[in-house]
Amino acid sequence: MADGSQFAFTPAVEAATLPLWEKVKHHVTPMEWRLQAPLIAEINRLKREKDAVILAHNYMTPEIFHGVGDYVGDSLGLAKEAAKSDAKIIVQAGVHFMAETSKILSPGKTVLIPDLLAGCSLASSITGADVRLIKQRYPGLPVVTYVNTTADVKAETDVCCTSANAVQVVEHVAKEWGVDRVILIPDEFLARNVARQTDVKIIAWQGRCEVHERFTAADILELREAYPNAEVLAHPECPAEVLEVSDFAGSTAAMNDYVLQRKPKQVVLITECSMADNVAADAPETEFLRPCNLCPHMKRISLQNIYEALAYDRYEVTVDPAIAERARLSVQRMIDLPPPLIPARYDLVKARHHVDVELI
Ligand code: 13P
Ligand code: SF4
Repeated sequence: MADGSQFAFTPAVEAATLPLWEKVKHHVTPMEWRLQAPLIAEINRLKREKDAVILAHNYMTPEIFHGVGDYVGDSLGLAKEAAKSDAKIIVQAGVHFMAETSKILSPGKTVLIPDLLAGCSLASSITGADVRLIKQRYPGLPVVTYVNTTADVKAETDVCCTSANAVQVVEHVAKEWGVDRVILIPDEFLARNVARQTDVKIIAWQGRCEVHERFTAADILELREAYPNAEVLAHPECPAEVLEVSDFAGSTAAMNDYVLQRKPKQVVLITECSMADNVAADAPETEFLRPCNLCPHMKRISLQNIYEALAYDRYEVTVDPAIAERARLSVQRMIDLPPPLIPARYDLVKARHHVDVELI
């Protein structure tokens, strides 16, 4: 079986990939590039031959993100692209729940994930059976579920949300159902952070993102002391104490927009490590400070296994059609909501730091 190393770094490959090299050269060594560039050229050729697109999450490494991603973005953006795409094959450069979401939205397409073990600590924190029990305990309350969940959890859900639109979804659902309490699962920290931005009472599950839960307020305060002018942007999967001492909280796409629009002189992104590398390629005037945590699941995806996914049509992600049908409704309800506003600076949240959630 070809492992991708048979593709040579020819002058033609070098010329074709030169614009990409310019983007990634601060994060990839010339030696690595001689191996990566031929794979990138071959992956891009295979995509055309097979009518495939690659949906790449913001946490992919720069050579994937800039080199082979056709659509790049946060969970919300990728879900929308999956729904719109005309391609026959979707390769998900991300984790398993993202590939399931693509399959749910595009049942007629072949959805491939380069490594079936690319999971997520949030997705594995809860099952469909758990959600059925929660609904028995809280009859008549709507269930809003973060997209970082398996298809069987989405099938038990009223409306999905992402970190980009969670407040908006919770408020919309509470109004539509005429209730003052909403179940928001499974990320406890996202739920706590949403609770600080709304009058709707939140019932939460104790799931955690293993990447973001590790950041502490002490980390941020130390940084602030060393770099007093740095702007601190944190992901809402971080503990509330982290967001309280940050300047801004938002999804990965919102952080990206913040940097590209406001062009801060110095910035720190409190999230997964590849995020800063990817934004930095498009923000030459900003200096990125780089405390970060790696997501071991996202890092299972490589150029090599993306190439193998396309070359050998593996690994196909399937979802039981009966589950997919119900899960589609909850994802589609989210997609059909009006576009979320990029949140303003985080002062509003700081002002309401005593709002609590009910833990299931
Ligand atoms: P977003 O890209 O939607 O902000 O999600 C971050 C994440 O952790 C995805 O796994
Ligand atoms: Fe899951 Fe966190 Fe990794 Fe995202 S970063 S895939 S939420 S473990």
